Amino acid sequence: MKIYSRIMAAVVIGTMVFATGCSSTKPTEPAKTEEKAADATAKEELVMATNAAFPPYEFYEGTDVVGIDAEIAAAIAEKLGMELKIEDMEFGSIITAVQGGKADMGMAGMTVNEERLVNVDFSNSYATGYQVVIVKNGSEIKTPDDLANKSIGVQESTTGDIYITDDYPNADVQRYNKGTEAVQALIQGKVDAVVIDREPAKVFVEQNEGLEILPTEYVVEEYAIALAKGNTELLEKINKALEELKADGTVQTIIDKYISAE
Ligand code: ARG
Repeated sequence: MKIYSRIMAAVVIGTMVFATGCSSTKPTEPAKTEEKAADATAKEELVMATNAAFPPYEFYEGTDVVGIDAEIAAAIAEKLGMELKIEDMEFGSIITAVQGGKADMGMAGMTVNEERLVNVDFSNSYATGYQVVIVKNGSEIKTPDDLANKSIGVQESTTGDIYITDDYPNADVQRYNKGTEAVQALIQGKVDAVVIDREPAKVFVEQNEGLEILPTEYVVEEYAIALAKGNTELLEKINKALEELKADGTVQTIIDKYISAE
């Protein structure tokens, strides 16, 4: 499939030159048709695996997946001359999808950690993440240390899940498919706290009454793009694009669009 699209890309570049040549005079019907065909097949796909239940990094706006990751990925794809395609899946399936070649990259506010580095490679970091604790207003949980014997909601397979499971063996860890489900469980009193990344936490707290984020962060981490082990060609291209997008302010502009300064 990839080889096919690469060949098509080569064919199409020729076609595009031809089409451009034509449009400098008066665009004719055949030229238009050709241009359209070129659009559809011109670019090799850059398939991004994500879990679009994680605002402001990836979430749905109608049927589109939007957010910081979606926009940075689109900017990278553009630099690479590729067509971004987003595949939404469970967070815990992203690494497998990347390993198995179902996706070219995993981008999902994904934290770089040792366990994941065994299975995938990571790009340079593009953002700092913070694991925070959400509680109900007035909760007796005041700092992350108070979580020890509590019932804690997390999104399954995330670093919040991993850290809590490791740090608090006596805690009752409740794993949910989505962060919002963990937050609903907190509202319903099924768990005492939710551990999740700070930016989605802020969104969820804003959307629901009576919740707050503890002032002390639990863990600081780095977000990066996951790639299949040994896919150094794509890794180098992505890192180069990412560094250019950081240097020219594009990454910051995208982040500022979704996260208002405190
Ligand atoms: N940063 C955390 C991790 O890497 C949570 C990421 C969750 N992302 C998502 N799109 N649901 O485990």
